[in-house]
Amino acid sequence: MKTQVLIIGGGPSGLMLSRILSQAGISSVILERQSRDHVLSRIRAGVLEQQAVDLLESTGLGTRMQAEGFVHHGIELAWEGHRHRVDFGDRPVMVYGQTEVTKDLYDGSDADAVTILHEVSNIELDLNGPGASFSQGGQRHEITCELIAGCDGYHGVSRRAIPADRIKLFERIYPFGWLGVLSETPPVAEELIYANHPRGFALASMRNAMLSRYYIQVPASEDPADWSDDAFWDELRRRLPAEAAESLVTGPSIEKSAAPLRSFVAEPMQYGPLYLCGDAAHIVPPTGAKGLNLAMSDVQYLAEGIIAAQSGDRSGLEHYSTRALARVWKAVRFSWWFTTTMHRFPDQSDFDQRMQESELAVLSESAAARKVLVENYSGLPL
Ligand code: FAD
Ligand code: DHB
Repeated sequence: MKTQVLIIGGGPSGLMLSRILSQAGISSVILERQSRDHVLSRIRAGVLEQQAVDLLESTGLGTRMQAEGFVHHGIELAWEGHRHRVDFGDRPVMVYGQTEVTKDLYDGSDADAVTILHEVSNIELDLNGPGASFSQGGQRHEITCELIAGCDGYHGVSRRAIPADRIKLFERIYPFGWLGVLSETPPVAEELIYANHPRGFALASMRNAMLSRYYIQVPASEDPADWSDDAFWDELRRRLPAEAAESLVTGPSIEKSAAPLRSFVAEPMQYGPLYLCGDAAHIVPPTGAKGLNLAMSDVQYLAEGIIAAQSGDRSGLEHYSTRALARVWKAVRFSWWFTTTMHRFPDQSDFDQRMQESELAVLSESAAARKVLVENYSGLPL
């Protein structure tokens, strides 16, 4: 088998890259470890920056998002009996689930007749060929290409194909995780509520008028099976502002999952013909809603580089890693700051506690401080 760009991983990064390339007349093949149904069933991100919205639109996949997504003009911060709405002004975000983005991207790849090989295992990258060998349906296959895009998430094989002495890894593991619940109930508020509470952080989010997404901070090792729906709702109620807790409508969870929180960056994001995109190269704690958005900006930079290289200009590919990392590190900083400001750490001292309260007080009193939050939450320029 032969293609121009071999894409490892058919999540949002891989699917979006193949869509942009296909529209530029560049062939790609996607190798995905899971089944299509499995990829489509993962409930993850919910907030899109304008750059991700623009990218979906410019690739002709924005119709359903425009009809079914919700434009949000602010978020609420809650702490110690205070509630403060942060107004986004002219920098709104789009609430549209990653599951829907992935579905739109799959519909696009069906229309483009892109080859996506599912349930592929034992991928071995050949960075000299370049190409890869892999197993599917009990048989071993080989594929050659001009360039490999590693879009296979944090646990994928691509990043690990880079020799250890040619990559530097930066990591912070937070001593807690998030337990998330999806329920067919009306959202507790019109906008997202981020709550700092002595019992731990809570987030009230949504997908649509009858689909709510809630998260609570839990210990890192928590098993969602240990949480009954009632236990989750009781804990969420304790952490939300009182008026919100009173009006919370509960119901059976249709999904419940736990995610550890970490910050992680691999530098550089390129080695030879292999280019890393999205979670394969970096992870941010979800508090700032940045992961999917960073994946989309990486893809945009890489696609621009690949397209320009077709007509002999390789500068975009040469500068891909530097360009992507400049945006990544700022999002890592914002996600770290927002996580640190909103969560209870097991070893939090009284001093740390006052710092959090002061940080939130500054946000509520200073338009300049809010402006910095909005710039980052709504998305830094490409
Ligand atoms: P992935 O989505 O991880 O896709 C990688 C793909 O590669 C997967 O389909 C996987 O099956 C496949 N794969 C893995 N290994 C292999 C292999 N060996 N061979 C072949 N294929 C392989 N981001 C936001 O922007 N906003 C949010 O609000 C937000 N909220 C989040 C909430 C939670 C609870 C979580 C967990 C994440 C959240 N994120 C959010 C992050 C966001 O979901 C990720 O950043 C995004 O999925 C990254 O996309 P990706 O395509 O790079 O990686
Ligand atoms: C959602 C997830 C986030 O991490 C976030 O910051 C906001 C919303 C969500 O899943 O809706």
